[in-house]
Amino acid sequence: MKQKLILLCLFSLIQFSLFAQNGIIIYKQKDAPIEARIKDLMSKMTLKEKILQLNQYIGGYNNNANNIAELIRTIPPEIGSLIYFDADPVWRNSIQKKAMEESRLGIPILFGFDVIHGYRTVYPVSLAQACSWNPELVTQAAAIAAKEAKLSGIDLAFSPMLDVARDGRWGRVTEGYGEDPYTNAVFGVATVKGYQGKDLSDPYSIAACLKHYVGYSRSEGGRDYHSSEISRQSLWETYLVPFEACVKAGAASVMSAFNDISGVPASANHYTLTQVLKDQWKFDGFVVSDWGALTKLIAQGVAKDKKEAGLKAFNAGVDMDMYDNIYFEYLEELLNEKKISMVKIDDAVSRVLRVKFRLGLFDNPYTEIVSEHDRYLHPESKIIAQKLAAESMVLLKNNSKTLPIKSSVKQIALIGPIAKDTANIIGGWEGHGKSADVESIYEGMVKEFGKNVVLNYAKGCDFDSTDESGFREAVLAAAKSDLILVCVGEKLRWTGENASRSTLALPAIQEKLVFELKKTGKPIVLILSNGRPIELIRLEPQVDAIVEMWQPGICGGTALAQILSGKINPSGKLSITFPLTTGQIPIYYDMRQSGEPNSGKYQDIPTDPQYWFGHGLSYTTFEYGAIKLSSEKIKKTEKLIAQVEVSNTGDVAGRETVLWYISDPACSISRPMKELKYFEKKELARGEKLVFRFEIDPERDLSYTDENGNRILESGDFYVIINNQKTKFEIIE
Ligand code: BGC
Repeated sequence: MKQKLILLCLFSLIQFSLFAQNGIIIYKQKDAPIEARIKDLMSKMTLKEKILQLNQYIGGYNNNANNIAELIRTIPPEIGSLIYFDADPVWRNSIQKKAMEESRLGIPILFGFDVIHGYRTVYPVSLAQACSWNPELVTQAAAIAAKEAKLSGIDLAFSPMLDVARDGRWGRVTEGYGEDPYTNAVFGVATVKGYQGKDLSDPYSIAACLKHYVGYSRSEGGRDYHSSEISRQSLWETYLVPFEACVKAGAASVMSAFNDISGVPASANHYTLTQVLKDQWKFDGFVVSDWGALTKLIAQGVAKDKKEAGLKAFNAGVDMDMYDNIYFEYLEELLNEKKISMVKIDDAVSRVLRVKFRLGLFDNPYTEIVSEHDRYLHPESKIIAQKLAAESMVLLKNNSKTLPIKSSVKQIALIGPIAKDTANIIGGWEGHGKSADVESIYEGMVKEFGKNVVLNYAKGCDFDSTDESGFREAVLAAAKSDLILVCVGEKLRWTGENASRSTLALPAIQEKLVFELKKTGKPIVLILSNGRPIELIRLEPQVDAIVEMWQPGICGGTALAQILSGKINPSGKLSITFPLTTGQIPIYYDMRQSGEPNSGKYQDIPTDPQYWFGHGLSYTTFEYGAIKLSSEKIKKTEKLIAQVEVSNTGDVAGRETVLWYISDPACSISRPMKELKYFEKKELARGEKLVFRFEIDPERDLSYTDENGNRILESGDFYVIINNQKTKFEIIE
């Protein structure tokens, strides 16, 4: 079979070199092998044309306040790529037409955009998506985002963000899938699959761009853009994990990050960009720098000027320069000075062209023109958005079964700055999402409860101010109600880029509002909408129930209301630990084992966080049987099956996610207390029992990585862990 394939490839290569000799332009032949098309095209390109392929300019209006830049009006038709901020396919096609018809070789432009949690149909922020533990649903959502984006002229999404984030002060924690490397890997792959579909050349596929490679989330103190101290060990153990998984899943491109890795900036880091990504992982797509990351090399103190910045980034392995224009200005000069090689330029150009060929851009360079109505917000898309919003929400506390709301409740006080909000709950990096598309909590509540329950609304206070004048109205609304829903949280720009905060606590006014409401003696349900974990040490004792709704995108109102009514049984579990106070940071479930597990505690507060990673309640109860292993001893080359029977012992159907961890209590290096290796979510009817199963592959699940990325599997005892149970097994030679 293999031999036949090789022969076939050889045959087509010979055939296409004959074409070439006969004057047929191979790179324009749709059926020619991509590598032959690249080779042919490159043989025809001038140095200038090649260098232009390595630049990404911008087009359209940019609403990222960090990146306001001059609009480039005279876009050279030979440009490699554009960040396209508008959503007008006609304008996009007119630019593409210039590239196809006014440039000598007709190389299509690659149009990129920050599609992060949806394009126009906006989903929950990524941190929330991971709380759904439903990667298939995330794939469906990403596929819809890809189609909406593609029909608006986008070929490349600057996501998924795979920065494993353990510091909630860092605003960009909202853009990734939480604190765990494996969870980031699974949801990253799910997103890549959704964007790229079965084949990049499918009509509605777009290319993914894995970012920010690598270690950006480790910026000290959670201060964005700051230095990050990362050992090779934690680079391999934690930060590279999701990138490797997504590269293996076929992601088309990678974005190099702003931070340094223990002194060597990620955008000038030969080790991570070339040795690991390109040589070791055999990544054959392109690397684009993050916006201004090359210029930042000067501020970071590793380049004296732009030219040197370009030199360092290029030789380290950054193929395309986003926005800095440094490659355009200096690559030729650097080549003439023999500081960079033609081989490297050719390699970078071939990477960019490869992605364009894979996307089918040479053969179908134009965007299909479809009316906005047909492009966006299809009812089926909104169903996915609502489902994902509901599955992402986490019931954090539910004392005395306060939720679901009982039929005896006739009046509900709906209070807080989030209650009627449509501008913030959509979440930052909202793509082309619009506040007008957002369903507020209030609207969702009216739909769900409107006929039977009186809703007494009062804003109470703003997100952050000292104005308490609204408290009185809020307390009056609460006093005449049977239950208080107090909806507090963050504005959308409180997370995201350049949005660090020194504390995870909500502004004092919001906390005070809850304290005032508590005085009414009525039961309180706290609804949180935010893009990072929140410090709840003061609020948690005041309230009877807490629902973390996150920033759910456009369809959160009904999703939340149906959780409150009990129509939907909540099934989300946290993808990130909620510290008790900001001072506990860093705190995450897979910390290394301590030398004195029972000492080294804080004197002033408990050592445990408010809610660990994986916490999330349901309206039903799930009972776990004992873990059963297929064997207590296996060889390194064998597989072990771990099983557990879970019973739904409550009154309603529910979905349970079993999170399977392993731990290695005695290894050559100190390993995390436990590491998530697999999870599975299943629906269980009332009274139903189901078996959850984890097939342990020792090489994949029990080995650890050394500081060079070599995986090492040691024999000895291991534990498999779920909930509060752990069961020992042994690996023998
Ligand atoms: C951000 C990236 C983003 C890029 C393009 C940068 O400032 O760090 O995440 O993809 O801008 O908008």
